[in-house]
Amino acid sequence: MDHFEYRDGELWCEGVDLTELAGRVGTPLYVYSRRTLEDHYDRLVKAFAQLDPLICYSIKSCGNVNLCRILAGRGAGMDVVSGGELFRAQQAGVRMDKIVYAGVGKTDAEIRDAITAKIGWFNIESEAEFENIASIAKQMGAQVRAALRINPDVDPKTHAKTTTGKKETKFGVDIERARRFFERYGQDEHALLRAVHLHIGSPVYSPEPYVQAIDKALTLIEKLRHQDYQIDAIDIGGGFGADYESGQSPSFADYASEIVPTLKKFHDDGGQVILEPGRTIAANAGVLLTRVQYIKMGGSKKFVIIDSGMHHLIRPTLYDSFHFIWPTKVAPMHQPDKGQRRLEMDLPGLEPCEVVGPVCESGDYLAKARRLPPVARGDVLCVFSAGAYGMVMASNYNAFPRPAEVLINDKRVTQIRRRETYQDLVAGELEPTEL
Ligand code: LLP
Repeated sequence: MDHFEYRDGELWCEGVDLTELAGRVGTPLYVYSRRTLEDHYDRLVKAFAQLDPLICYSIKSCGNVNLCRILAGRGAGMDVVSGGELFRAQQAGVRMDKIVYAGVGKTDAEIRDAITAKIGWFNIESEAEFENIASIAKQMGAQVRAALRINPDVDPKTHAKTTTGKKETKFGVDIERARRFFERYGQDEHALLRAVHLHIGSPVYSPEPYVQAIDKALTLIEKLRHQDYQIDAIDIGGGFGADYESGQSPSFADYASEIVPTLKKFHDDGGQVILEPGRTIAANAGVLLTRVQYIKMGGSKKFVIIDSGMHHLIRPTLYDSFHFIWPTKVAPMHQPDKGQRRLEMDLPGLEPCEVVGPVCESGDYLAKARRLPPVARGDVLCVFSAGAYGMVMASNYNAFPRPAEVLINDKRVTQIRRRETYQDLVAGELEPTEL
């Protein structure tokens, strides 16, 4: 469900014509739809309402302060993994007791900042980290709440680079080690070990792995409670899918219909449920607009060379991810409806193309052997579902400035991040200092 749609062969977002916008603001350009972002968040809240969960939006997926502020305004907390993300959340006005802080390598400075900010939960990834957080809290005369991240060892059937809940991973501790962990640290007075955290991978395109993982976590919690450890919360992580191809992902309601019953008793007994969704909220709330620079043949292949690429959206290169790409202006016979955003499009006159960027790497592409309507120099292409893990993973490789970001709210367009300039690229280098 999103608010990007073709009308009379032209792509619109809410009340804005995106071809016209690209001409006016320039490309490459990340465009977000406020209504889509809000709809996704609201649907998620509704689907899981019976558990009244704390929804900690995973800021790593799309961290623009202005977008985070919208979600915070609707009551969202945030899942952060660095001091920088915590700072972003603070700038967005997120309530600090709604922050969960994960990440395997938290530094002393980051831990101190998070304690000072009075965040809700530290998600603990190892014994050494727990000891460090407890000792810093003690030095500061503070008390923090901690959740132990466990690896439920289930297969989320997702890309190897985004699988996290298996036994041999750098994240969390395995479930057998968890009880020993509580026996060792469960009485600490400065870091109160009071919750269990899991995150199995991303994206996870079915509810079953969640149910399996949560069942394992609940069994552990039951045993821990039996030993008189107080467990106040379970954080089931994020990883819910998004439709990169139409109809690919279960709906919020589909996930909830299986997950809610497994957690209902825990909730009814007074336990708090925490979710950390990122992609499912942000992915289809954003697109990347890019302009065709040149068309070139390479052997029998047709290359469509654009003014964006792996430096702005690295997902195809890094994970072989599919992003639907289509011109913002098409002939009537090439107008897709929303159900038609897919790899295989059964329309006449499409031609296989390599959609590539200007970066000096052969891995710089957004699509390979992709059948597109005829495109020419100057046309604007829309790369869909780019709201999550798009701009946040962009780089300045080859010294290309990063794109601007704009937010559409009905007919209004607001620039929420200005386009970088050449000056920005060298700003930190202009005054060398002797150390
Ligand atoms: N919680 C934890 C502990 C995580 O590690 C992640 C994502 C999330 C929540 C949010 O997952 P989401 O709901 O957004 O799927 N760059 C990759 C995805 C990396 C995900 C890392 N962790 C991609 O572009 O597919």
